[in-house]
Amino acid sequence: MTDAIAQGTAVRDSGAAGNAIAAERRHDEVLVLDFGGQYSQLIARRVRECGVFSELLPHHVGIDEIRGRRPRGLILSGGPASVYAENAPRLRPELLELGIPVLGICYGMQAIALELGGRIESAPVGEFGRSELTVTEPGRLFAGLPTAQTCWMSHRDTVYEAPPGFTALASSTESPVAAFEDGVRGLYGIQFHPEVVHTPYGTDVLRRFLDDVCGCDMRWSAESVIDEQVERIRAQVGDGRVICGLSGGVDSSVAALLVHRAIGDQLTCVFVDHGLMRKNEADQVIAAFRDTFHVPLVAVDAQERFLARLAGVTEPERKRKIIGEEFIRVFEEEAAKLGNPKFLVQGTLYSDVIESGGGTGAATIKSHHNVGGLPDDLKFELVEPLRTLFKDEVRVVGQELGLPERLVWRQPFPGPGLAIRIVSGEVTAERLAILRDADFILQEEIRAAGLYRELWQSFCVLPADLRSVGVQGDERTYGYAIVIRAVTSDDAMTADWARLPYDLLERVASRMINEIQQVNRVTLDITSKPPGTIEWE
Ligand code: XMP
Repeated sequence: MTDAIAQGTAVRDSGAAGNAIAAERRHDEVLVLDFGGQYSQLIARRVRECGVFSELLPHHVGIDEIRGRRPRGLILSGGPASVYAENAPRLRPELLELGIPVLGICYGMQAIALELGGRIESAPVGEFGRSELTVTEPGRLFAGLPTAQTCWMSHRDTVYEAPPGFTALASSTESPVAAFEDGVRGLYGIQFHPEVVHTPYGTDVLRRFLDDVCGCDMRWSAESVIDEQVERIRAQVGDGRVICGLSGGVDSSVAALLVHRAIGDQLTCVFVDHGLMRKNEADQVIAAFRDTFHVPLVAVDAQERFLARLAGVTEPERKRKIIGEEFIRVFEEEAAKLGNPKFLVQGTLYSDVIESGGGTGAATIKSHHNVGGLPDDLKFELVEPLRTLFKDEVRVVGQELGLPERLVWRQPFPGPGLAIRIVSGEVTAERLAILRDADFILQEEIRAAGLYRELWQSFCVLPADLRSVGVQGDERTYGYAIVIRAVTSDDAMTADWARLPYDLLERVASRMINEIQQVNRVTLDITSKPPGTIEWE
């Protein structure tokens, strides 16, 4: 819920937090301009993995904004369009004249070729998937790399002739010119995707561009963000008071720890225990923050309040709305008791920033699963220390700050918690207890099998109005069924049901039936997303 609260009430300090980086940052940056490719985010992540900070901006971002960031290089991403299509995103020639090296990938390469007079045609056969690359002239991008490499392609248009002044570096099965460079103007192009794992030398090619061509300092790391953010937070907050809603998830936890490192006891965390968390989670959060990190923490036991408001409610969106509203109410009360701090910490991640406007200063509020009906009169200035980081980088920072492994690697958990996993029925204390016990068994066995980190989410669902017949001992039973849901995913937009080992499933099912008196049947959800969603409500 913590994220939801900030989403609903969010008052932006300014989306400029990300943009302000350029002026004060101590590390080199390479910008990726997004021409709509499926892998554009991945390019930025790979560049960061090479040790160079990278951000993704829309291809039409203003030239002045690019200049203002003083990047060491530009990467033009792939994209779905044909360069000849009527509405194809155009490459503005000024981008090639900024005096910094430019690397075009796939569509980006073709756009450079088109702009500078190369010959591109739609090939009779497209090249999708694995392909063999033959390097004919290593140039700077392939220096020291094998002349025969596997790479991954996804294109139909093909460069047949490099533009004047360029040297063709490589060809592939279907691409006469699969890479080219003009070292004088600092312009480079590759038809294949270096960012995907199916291109084994992809990272090497990227690294050659970043290091040898752009001359970047390759020492950026997620950990190095800590000092920078600490300074930034101090500058933003001064001696003001700051409040942070802790949810127990990794984002709000890491954000809170960073802010605490920066300004110590000017920060107060509020943890609202709505009674919809998993077993022991509330205690773990309180123990970590209060006892280990000595962060001022107000833990509010609001279970009764939430249950009372949820009484009789069965409709999922109503549940979400009530939980959102009640959360805000509790949070508001606590904020008032603390003298209404001016600043609110929010664990906004870089992927949220991209989704909501590409980091160009557009709205920065998470919209996904926003809880409706929240009052808009709660005014805070946001402190968002994670807005330049991807999720895995946030985990690295969390680890560096000493956050317990359990919190660092916690699977995503919805704000409304177990309430939306008691489906088609009312949330009651008894059902919560059943679901919590079932969930605990599932988590315990999945962890014991070493599978926890491989799964995006794993949880149980309790169909509230379903009972089925069973037989235990000599007695006929009429009990609840538990549904096991486990999925793999990269971003929750799509997901595949996880192929959990049969013996693990067997153990989980038999423990649930033996240990939870009201449960007499266990089932497995084998629906992927789409067409299913991850949650049942
Ligand atoms: P679905 O069920 O839409 O879920 O496939 C996608 C991801 O979003 C999470 N989820 C929520 N998170 N409040 C949240 O904070 C919600 O109301 C909510 N509903 C779904 C879900 O767990 C999955 O990770």
